Amino acid sequence: MTPTPAEVAHAAEVLRAGGLVAFPTETVYGLGAHAGQPAALARVFAVKGRPPDHPLIVHLAPGLDLDDWALDVPPAARALAAACWPGPLTMVLRRHPRVDPVATGGRDTVGLRVPAHPVAQDLLARVGGGVAAPSANRFGRVSPTTAAHVRADLGEDVDVVLDGGPCAVGVESTIVDLTVEDPVVLRHGGVPVEVLEAVLGRPVGRHAAGPARAPGMLAAHYAPSARVVLCADADQAAARAGRERAAGQRVRVLDPRVDATAWAHALYGWLRDADVADLDVLVVVPPPEEGLGVAVADRLRRAAVGSGGEVSPPTG
Ligand code: TXA
Ligand code: MG
Repeated sequence: MTPTPAEVAHAAEVLRAGGLVAFPTETVYGLGAHAGQPAALARVFAVKGRPPDHPLIVHLAPGLDLDDWALDVPPAARALAAACWPGPLTMVLRRHPRVDPVATGGRDTVGLRVPAHPVAQDLLARVGGGVAAPSANRFGRVSPTTAAHVRADLGEDVDVVLDGGPCAVGVESTIVDLTVEDPVVLRHGGVPVEVLEAVLGRPVGRHAAGPARAPGMLAAHYAPSARVVLCADADQAAARAGRERAAGQRVRVLDPRVDATAWAHALYGWLRDADVADLDVLVVVPPPEEGLGVAVADRLRRAAVGSGGEVSPPTG
């Protein structure tokens, strides 16, 4: 499953030559382009079908100097980098001029992340610069957590797919905005907010699901074709599934009773399975909203809204 050093070296060469490389991270697979090459970055937006004002995350190898990539780096950012990198945390900071504004959707801020996956780190070290990478799915599709998902979504539009096996975490990175006085979470993800608060020694705001701050967090982005219906417990789920089946719908109940880590790891695969099975309705009992469960519940709510399902159906 692990690419050979020669394969990673070739992928780095492709990136330096302006090509696109899908690569594994511990969260989801990324669709990478060299962060200093506007033409390659433009191809990422084209292949994804992503609006040009939706900023990309710039991925960096361990051992970077934050001041080479961001301006006015606050102490809180240095503390979070020391505690959470490499790992599933993206920090939004003021953009350094060396970061091409095409990567940041024209913004003066940049999202930076040092991934923990060894293949990603090897690739980034060989490239020797930043690699801008959104999740390696078409705009509006569920994020890929295996190389097979990437190939199914992107086909021939990506030059190289590095297969590093299934992503360990399974949901995207937590995004925290450090350009404001009090750091605020823009997207829940692989690093629970409690961890950020422990590192910073103060409460961290949880940005309500709003459209503006992190474009690309639209509800439909996490939706399978099946309607996702969220239920409070197993009884409610069984009752709902029964009614849907009686109405002739193809239904599956997703109530795995696993911990939040296992939920996150499997979530996007389960959503994709619903489409593979050509379901009409996926009835889900989400995990408790603690730790990684917050990110899982967030994605499930978006999947419910985006699929035309229901977030909290009436009981009975
Ligand atoms: O785990 C992840 O973060 C994965 C892997 C590949 O690293 N990447 C990922 O990228 O999820 P993407 O493009 O699918 O989602 C990035 C999110 C978008 O919602 C984007 O708006 C936000 O990050 N973002 C990036 N730079 C930003 C910035 N400067 N200000 C605000 N939001 C930003
Ligand atoms: Mg994405």
